[in-house]
Amino acid sequence: MRFGYFDDENREYVITQPDTPLPWLNYLGDEDYFGLISNTAGGYTFYRDARLRRLTRYRYNNVPTDRGGRYLYLRDNQSEQYWSPTWQPTGRQLENYACHVGLGYTKISSEYSDIKAEIRYFIPLGQTLEVWQLHLTNQREKTADISLFSCVEFCLWDALDDATNFQRNLNIGEVEVEDSVIYHKTEYRERRNHFAYFACSEPVDGFDTQRDSFLGAYRGWDKPQSVESGVSSNSIAHGWSPIGSHHVHLVMEPGEVRKVNFLLGYQENPADSKFESEGSQIINKQFVLPTIKRFLKSSEVEAAFAELSTYWNDLLSIYQVKTPDEHTNRMVNIWNAYQCLITFNLSRSASYYESGIGRGMGFRDSNQDLLGFVHMLPGRARQRILDLAATQLESGGAYHQYQPLTKRGNDAVGGNFNDDPLWLVLSVTAYIKETGDFDILEELIPFDNQPGSERPLYEHLQRSIQYTLDRLGPHGLPLIGRADWNDCLNLNTFSSEPGESFQTTTAMDGKTAESVFIAGLFVLAVTELAELADVYGKSVDAGIYRDAAVDMKDTTLQHGWDGDWFLRAYDHYGQKIGSNQNQEGQIFIEPQGMCIMAGIGRNGSHAESALMAVQKRLLTTHGIVLQQPAYSKYYLQLGEISSYPPGYKENAGIFCHTNPWIMIAETIQGNGDQALDYYLRINPSQREAISEIHRCEPYVYAQMIAGRDAPTHGEAKNSWLSGTAAWNYVAITQWILGIRPSYKGLQVEPVIPKSWSDFSVRRKYRGAIYNIEVKRVGPGNQVSIEVDGKAVDGTVVPLPQSDGQQVHVSVAIK
Ligand code: BGC
Ligand code: NOJ
Repeated sequence: MRFGYFDDENREYVITQPDTPLPWLNYLGDEDYFGLISNTAGGYTFYRDARLRRLTRYRYNNVPTDRGGRYLYLRDNQSEQYWSPTWQPTGRQLENYACHVGLGYTKISSEYSDIKAEIRYFIPLGQTLEVWQLHLTNQREKTADISLFSCVEFCLWDALDDATNFQRNLNIGEVEVEDSVIYHKTEYRERRNHFAYFACSEPVDGFDTQRDSFLGAYRGWDKPQSVESGVSSNSIAHGWSPIGSHHVHLVMEPGEVRKVNFLLGYQENPADSKFESEGSQIINKQFVLPTIKRFLKSSEVEAAFAELSTYWNDLLSIYQVKTPDEHTNRMVNIWNAYQCLITFNLSRSASYYESGIGRGMGFRDSNQDLLGFVHMLPGRARQRILDLAATQLESGGAYHQYQPLTKRGNDAVGGNFNDDPLWLVLSVTAYIKETGDFDILEELIPFDNQPGSERPLYEHLQRSIQYTLDRLGPHGLPLIGRADWNDCLNLNTFSSEPGESFQTTTAMDGKTAESVFIAGLFVLAVTELAELADVYGKSVDAGIYRDAAVDMKDTTLQHGWDGDWFLRAYDHYGQKIGSNQNQEGQIFIEPQGMCIMAGIGRNGSHAESALMAVQKRLLTTHGIVLQQPAYSKYYLQLGEISSYPPGYKENAGIFCHTNPWIMIAETIQGNGDQALDYYLRINPSQREAISEIHRCEPYVYAQMIAGRDAPTHGEAKNSWLSGTAAWNYVAITQWILGIRPSYKGLQVEPVIPKSWSDFSVRRKYRGAIYNIEVKRVGPGNQVSIEVDGKAVDGTVVPLPQSDGQQVHVSVAIK
């Protein structure tokens, strides 16, 4: 069952039924100011940091669900009926409801008793404000007398404090109202130099800034007193709960269209001129008013929207594909790329499943996210790398997370997730292959942001590698530390206290538990570093790293192979995890994917055998589960993984992030059919047809789909912010379609299904445009290439000669 449809031409998903199984989300904003918006206008907005600079309030896990949003109400003053053109919060049934989920905007339209409303929400590029553009049409044959009410509920900035510290917070709310602008200035009188504003393009008939005056006592957002009565009370908030609500009275002739713009924005004033005059407590508005005036004008708003469209078109035009499969085309050309950029911006901080008050930017998460967007925004990828590297420690280890506002490592979580530093090697090498910017290796970056400790980025990478080598366990495999990629495999935690954090509690000295996954990741990273060292003129280092790769490969085959697949780990007692000998958790997906990607056992039949085992034991119709058999009870020595009921999350859920590793492994083994099959099983567009089972948005990946042990097998959870986005993008674009940047040029090695006769890709790379036409002339994967009509040896299309060059590449596969 579907709740809408893909409009590929306009790059939209159009939701046609408002009561989707869960709120379906979109994001607004791209750099400093962000918003989350659902298909019924729920969500919130913040400046840079979803915890510390939250502009509007949102109530997670509320009933009814998805409360707090960007609400408009319409009231027919003749019939006295009122409704929400976005369906919620009144829930009154609408006609012709449609929510257009677009790139950086959401547009919701509907009709109610012949009044048509269309609201487009977006954030102009480079601005710290959002625009709500309302077009209202009177489709009646007689005059309509309409009252329009807006409403947002302000958050008192720190979202955690806002939701907990009521003894203070109910006393401090402050606002100002001037013309049609409502200013939210709680704490501005003391240490804050920032405020929020909510402006309207029309003269207002009234306003409200105190929540209870607007709603009325004991009422909810679904039937505000002011809307019901058609009269605002012009309330000024003193403490309690400041809101912003405008009332605009519109008398509309038959057929008349009215345009009303609202702006919700954030402004910082210089500390020494924050007040209107000396001694006054009134906000100095001289800096903000020009912006407000500008964006209340429809012509300016239209221009800003056009600019936003161009921005997204340019970004997406960097990799465009035409294949025989519509789900592949749609995800690669539009949605997967879009999700990669959103994940890059927000890491795991703010979604409908991440409350914005917990985690900052994850070290491993952000490095992996980079793999999916580096070709689109290389400049910002560079900055991200430097920020991440600056949180690395002298030991080569890393803080697990850092705060976006301060860019400092989080002390509360600390480090010792032993996989973390290795991901930095993968992101840096991906960045250089994309851009050719070897200079980044010379950038002097401190450790733990400490002035005076600066070393070249190249040395940071060396220390990442050394960090693993300094921490080998009894079998010579890497020690796992607090956890590796699987945050829930906590082999040193041994927690029996409810509520204790599995990730930060350490009971054991950590000298025995080893990770085969990190062994694989290490081989992958050290091989990448060897290759980089070679082209960077450090051949001695390259030799050392190649030897280290060989050693770790040998160790892995000797101690990390279980006979038919790769082991997962050794626990604190030296017992195997992910082995045939175990009762539960006999085989895990992560080491199969990672070790094959790293080339471990490539000369033998290991890869083939491991992939067979994955197919036989882990595959379901909805994707590949993380491990089997699921843990049926809590194991003290395993930690959080066994805390989840079977089939959910890391305990045998389909943890989508890991599936592309298997897809990539299949392409390495030359199995294009198998790789695409796995790709399509979790592809959101392919799953659109079963939206009633999948339940999350059909245009983006979710972190997890319930596994076969779960009663709700096939149900997705935790959509949007997940490493799944980047890795699926890498798997399809670089391995199945096979077009990947290298130091010497664009490597073209597709491993596609036998049934595909051809496909084409337009790829911008190092300033040139490569038009790549691939034709299948035989059933295998052997590639021959002609560049501008001339045959080249091997599979690398050389770097371009000049900027803007158009390169024609024809590829035959047989
Ligand atoms: C989740 C993991 C997550 C970890 C750290 C766990 O509860 O299952 O997916 O990485 O928390 O926040
Ligand atoms: C989500 C975390 O953000 C990520 O870092 C981790 O690898 C996965 N969960 C698996 O536990």
